[in-house]
Amino acid sequence: MVDMMQNYEMAKRILAKYKQEHLLNFYDELNNDEKEQLISQICQINFEQIFSLYEASKKDELIPHRSIAPLPYTIKKDLTTEEFMYYCSIGENAIVNGKYAVVTLAGGQGTRLGYKGPKGTFELDTEPKKSLFEILCEHLKEANEKYNITIPWYIMTSIYNDEQTKKFFEEKNFFDYPKDSIYFFEQSELPLINLSGNLILEEPYKIKEASNGNGDVFLSMKRHGILKDMKQKQIEWIFFSGVDNVILDIVDPLLLGLTIANNKVIASKTLFKKNIEDKDWIFARRDGKPAIINSCHLTPEMKIAIDENGHYLYREINLLAHLFNISALEKIVKVFLPYHRAFKKNTFVNEEGMKQVPESPNTFKFETFIFDAFSLFDEIELLRVEENEEFAPIKDFNGAHNPEIAKELYEKKYCLK
Ligand code: UTP
Repeated sequence: MVDMMQNYEMAKRILAKYKQEHLLNFYDELNNDEKEQLISQICQINFEQIFSLYEASKKDELIPHRSIAPLPYTIKKDLTTEEFMYYCSIGENAIVNGKYAVVTLAGGQGTRLGYKGPKGTFELDTEPKKSLFEILCEHLKEANEKYNITIPWYIMTSIYNDEQTKKFFEEKNFFDYPKDSIYFFEQSELPLINLSGNLILEEPYKIKEASNGNGDVFLSMKRHGILKDMKQKQIEWIFFSGVDNVILDIVDPLLLGLTIANNKVIASKTLFKKNIEDKDWIFARRDGKPAIINSCHLTPEMKIAIDENGHYLYREINLLAHLFNISALEKIVKVFLPYHRAFKKNTFVNEEGMKQVPESPNTFKFETFIFDAFSLFDEIELLRVEENEEFAPIKDFNGAHNPEIAKELYEKKYCLK
């Protein structure tokens, strides 16, 4: 009881310092457990960090044009059959020798889709219906069969969806994947900030926090002993991708073989940017290092610039398909990646204590991006793949990346084989 009083006083002091006293608006109406939960959360949140991120994010990210240069890439469909076979055989050799693992980034909130439950449990309307996790698992099982191995599968969840994700796998009997080759690990969270610059309540007894970006995967892997586990298993190559792209080749011997043959420690698949005016994240060298930059930072000349072979210099889009050598991961976990500000839709408790579901984005979220780690390296292997063969993400119900289109592309690729 004395502890509780002390913690309450401490929480009040913290909130007063950061002008967040509204978070205790409903305190008197809470039961003892809820009171304890709220006070303990207030004492654990790093208010200094979240407000400095917020202040820093008010300044626009400006990149001077002179610091941008093109990155070389390989176009999959331009490879000769001999080249294709050669690189694939190098990649296959590493895979059959147990050097390859897959990490699925499944800690996102999926706010645009607005689906209740972890996004990986969302079902594609196939016959029979298949969840995104099941589809990923199918891809892995197919590779396991082809190479006669079991690829270790690491799944990053968030504090918010971890329990539900694990329960889902249990209920589905891990889709008959060897259970001891699937590993779940949780990423971290940060509070969200509303348009008035304040933290919000998700419940009268709970401050709204959300996963802090897919770039947190590196530190989370370290924190949960995943890197150590990979080293023990002598895994050398780790492929990272999102939970929602249903046709991506996540076990791709070509990407792996190219990367090994060209002595790189990081690699990514890319897509050709068709419309130069679309805002996309494109690959470029920034201040001499590989990076992904927003295409709005390109001058009109850069947007259409070509090399002596007629290949565009700045048209390679990120599709969230990255390969890292374990040595690269060990280097990355020694640094902190920068935070970016995103604007997202989040439910909150209003001043009357009523839950509000906004129709448009209402909160700032702070996220690190996996690709910011590229700048720690001098080179990156880039492989341009075909959009209709490897890109069918599910982002929302009404936009270009909706479940209906994803289903069509999935069936075209896998069911008409
Ligand atoms: P997106 O940026 O598309 O986010 O994530 P999202 O959560 O799927 O959807 P929105 O933006 O809220 O609508 C790309 C991938 O990165 C993962 C997501 O789960 C998805 O697979 N991710 C994102 C994380 O694992 N953690 C995060 O903190 C954010």
